[in-house]
Amino acid sequence: MRAVDIIQNKRDGQPLSAEEIHFFIENYTKGDLPDYQAAALLMAIYWRGMDRQETVTLTQAMAHSGKMMDLSGVIDYAVDKHSSGGVGDKTTLVVLPLVASMGVPVAKMSGRGLGFSGGTLDKLESIAGYNVNLTDEQFLDLAGKNGIVLSGQTGELAPADGKIYALRDVTATVPSKPLIASSIMSKKLASGANGMVLDVKWGNGAFMNTLEDARELAEIMVKIGADDGRDVIALLSDMNQPLGQAVGNAIEVVEAIDTLNGDGPADFRAHCLEVARYMVQLAGQGEKWTDANAVHQQLEAHLDNGQAMDKFRLMVAAQGGDLKMIDDPSLLPSAKIREDILATESGYAEQVIALEVAYAANALGAGREKKGDPVDHAVGVMVYVNVGDQISAGDRLFTIHANSEAQLAEAKAYLSQAVKVASSPVEPLPLFYGVIDSRTL
Ligand code: URA
Repeated sequence: MRAVDIIQNKRDGQPLSAEEIHFFIENYTKGDLPDYQAAALLMAIYWRGMDRQETVTLTQAMAHSGKMMDLSGVIDYAVDKHSSGGVGDKTTLVVLPLVASMGVPVAKMSGRGLGFSGGTLDKLESIAGYNVNLTDEQFLDLAGKNGIVLSGQTGELAPADGKIYALRDVTATVPSKPLIASSIMSKKLASGANGMVLDVKWGNGAFMNTLEDARELAEIMVKIGADDGRDVIALLSDMNQPLGQAVGNAIEVVEAIDTLNGDGPADFRAHCLEVARYMVQLAGQGEKWTDANAVHQQLEAHLDNGQAMDKFRLMVAAQGGDLKMIDDPSLLPSAKIREDILATESGYAEQVIALEVAYAANALGAGREKKGDPVDHAVGVMVYVNVGDQISAGDRLFTIHANSEAQLAEAKAYLSQAVKVASSPVEPLPLFYGVIDSRTL
């Protein structure tokens, strides 16, 4: 088999065979195919697309390019979650302990952010001592012993994706749905989940800018899971405005702690309850937890009575994190400068543009431009307005947490564009727009 023939087939719109896909993935991962041929194939896939069979085969080949995590020795039914990424998305920090508090074990590998604000690992590293680099043995041990573990994914998990993603990034081939879906799902399949809830966001602060695109991507991912024998539920959720109030790293951890203590912004709490409910119901496999309302009520109780927080403390302590910071969040990293941004006009918030808030957080140093860049854990933006809110001139819209005057000025410029005010009432945005379930496809 020759790589050039595979490229030619895809260029001419032919579906690739399983042999061709495996040949390409295996040889590219080993370093036996040059980047220029891989890049040509990616561009051909970008233009020609892939059918269901090709996409599933590509995903499986990428998943099997490295180690396949086996959780079956420690967890009967492993349930995972994935978010397609958003502004202020600290959902994992709340949902994992919340689900674990229901007696459903959760063992999750998360990634670092490449973009506006940090990823889950960056947020967790705001907590002094928290170890995101567990060995497989430690990971499995904590999953079995505590029913909760949250760590980083190693390069051994779907290494083909690591190589291909880096190449896509520099060849303008990231925005291809089969490539995005196979990239995300290869890591999920390799991490050993039996079932997963995918939080697929759409909006100006998300990867997918329209609901139609998000739905299409979600359907591809659900089908990949179904064809590989996994249970997958995709929730289509909003990312036109930030989720919750905090956008940054340590300030997002503070908001997660507040939420686990029964407080926190209403939209974020509701979002977490919904994701957690689907995870619990998936793990219940239709037997124990058939009643969605009953599960929801019990999850609410666990946020309010400290049971979810107990699981969070257990996880942080087991991974070496400083519990004093959890019990007194003022000990988490904090920025030197805080400045409020006030409304200059009265009316109704018509838009709170997640992308502008994201640019502001990035300008402050909360995110990273390229892999390996450091993030500033202390900085970020607190957002106090939601679409639909009535506002008066002089109301506080944002608080900027900055570590330099120059970064503060840059963030202010972005935030000055972030809120659009209308003179008549505006409907609030929904949190969710639909559900796609592999079991009813
Ligand atoms: N996240 C991933 O892991 N891969 C993509 O291609 C896009 C988002």
